[in-house]
Amino acid sequence: MAADIPLFNNSFAYQSTLSPNPQWTYGQKTADTPAGKAWMEGEKAGWKVVDTAKEDKLELYTLMISGIVPRPIAFVSSLSASGAENLAPFSWFNMVTHNPPLVSICCGNGRQHIKDTTSNIKATKSFTVNIISEPFVEAANVTSVDAPEGVSEWPISGLTKEKSLHVKPARVKESAFSMECELFQVIDIVHPESGANTTTMILGHVKYIHVRNDVLNERGNVDPAKFKPVGRMGDISYSRVGDGFRIARPVWANEQETIEKAIEKRDE
Ligand SMILES: Cc1cc2nc3c(=O)[nH]c(=O)nc-3n(C[C@H](O)[C@H](O)[C@H](O)COP(=O)(O)O)c2cc1C
Repeated sequence: MAADIPLFNNSFAYQSTLSPNPQWTYGQKTADTPAGKAWMEGEKAGWKVVDTAKEDKLELYTLMISGIVPRPIAFVSSLSASGAENLAPFSWFNMVTHNPPLVSICCGNGRQHIKDTTSNIKATKSFTVNIISEPFVEAANVTSVDAPEGVSEWPISGLTKEKSLHVKPARVKESAFSMECELFQVIDIVHPESGANTTTMILGHVKYIHVRNDVLNERGNVDPAKFKPVGRMGDISYSRVGDGFRIARPVWANEQETIEKAIEKRDE
């Protein structure tokens, strides 16, 4: 452990604050506030422009995983055709839609190596996705170990298997939000130039969601202060959910007049 890195801040608590510039009005320039001005001045350092076709693959990977952040993480439990258990985290993950309830996970097929998660889901057509909270992030991280096929990551992690209702793979008992998924579609991502199948995208149809009552608020939403979800940043970094803020989504029918007036005023 590096001596100059502070200990994990256990007294940190998520809170809801005002947004950075609650006085913002339609058409207002970012540089109009001191924080916005300082942000825009950063541009003086110039730009690095990356031509993805020419960039080294590892550099591209490093840049993309550090720029497309923070990412949610799917902690995926699956079974092989012979019943071997597998557990691994995937941050190229997101919700696709709620209707039907679908999630997407992308597994890299680097160096002709198909990950166990990919082959398991293709073979057995089901899996669970468990969201990782701070108290068990080290245990979840360890399951990314490149263990040979047939070696279960469950005992290595110390995490607990909880029987699923609808699918065969277990869900992670320590996770306060788990989804039981059936395979909806597999999309092979084929490189348009090399023709290599570099990645496999898995769409999962969420059949059941298990959410712990103690992380729900009065409105039935998952409360980030209680949930303590972790996100993926670049390199081997994780993030916590810091302060949150609410910003209303404008409705054109209500705002049209104000928007038009504000724009007119700025153009004068
Ligand atoms: C937080 C985290 C996120 C990850 N995200 C991905 C991902 O989105 N896609 C991927 O192919 N590998 C990802 N990995 C690496 C896999 O977890 C790792 O290759 C694992 O060994 C795959 O397990 P399997 O072969 O048992 O399926 C990630 C690793 C960590 C620690």
